Amino acid sequence: MKIFIDTADIEEIKTAISWGIVDGITTNPTLIKKALQKYRDRISSMEDYIKEILRIAGRLRPVSLEVISTDREKMVKEATILYEKFNYIANNVVVKIPINPNLGEGNDFDGIMAVRELKSAGIPVNVTLVMTPEQALLAAKAGAEYVSPFVGRVDDFLRTKVGMEFKKEDYFPSDGMEYDDEVINDNGIVSGVHMLSIIKEIFENYRFSTKIIAASVRNARQVREILEVGCDIATIPFYVLKDMIKHVKTEEGMINFVRDVENEYKEIFWKGE
Ligand code: G3P
Repeated sequence: MKIFIDTADIEEIKTAISWGIVDGITTNPTLIKKALQKYRDRISSMEDYIKEILRIAGRLRPVSLEVISTDREKMVKEATILYEKFNYIANNVVVKIPINPNLGEGNDFDGIMAVRELKSAGIPVNVTLVMTPEQALLAAKAGAEYVSPFVGRVDDFLRTKVGMEFKKEDYFPSDGMEYDDEVINDNGIVSGVHMLSIIKEIFENYRFSTKIIAASVRNARQVREILEVGCDIATIPFYVLKDMIKHVKTEEGMINFVRDVENEYKEIFWKGE
């Protein structure tokens, strides 16, 4: 099982990698925008900033970088640019392509076609914005190296449909909330984690080698549920990683252990100091 960090914030990336538990990085235009807002003074060239991230990640940690266009031809061109400009740094570039880039032009399958072309060109693709098992299946058929189902956003979608008020990070159980079937359940998905479990089953049934990156992760408990499903990878925001290490009783226990250290015991380690 692998942990990726879902951020374009270079300090978060450095810190999380220094903890020794990060296997990869995922970015998207929104995360890049956030990093730009935070480090506006420090980032003189976006290219150099991305190169620095790739160097920090190193050869063993894939870094997903997203295209910005919505038609097949341009997406393939941009993917090729990303790959040619950046992959030589650490051989770790993965290009993110949206499952359906249609903004009203009726080009629902341009993402899928781009994935197929990039697969033939040997450029690894992470298909993003996946909200259903059907979309994940199409991405896998097209030859995606990774699919990224958006667990948290599926939960948001279901909650909004029932008129719930919620904070993004609120926990949503994998077996769904109490709801009236007809109100929300138009495709049988009761939570983001439920969607993941179906994708996992489909990929296993048909032996797809596409790896599942559970994305849009909002809290530590959701991480646990993702792991229970047996996903290959969870891409986790920095604040959730930090949350995963905490428990009030761990903190309390630590205070007691430190308080109870007797000098005789201390001397074993620090004699004369
Ligand atoms: O990797 C996808 C992720 O960045 C989306 O997360 O929290 O914006 O839904 P979120």
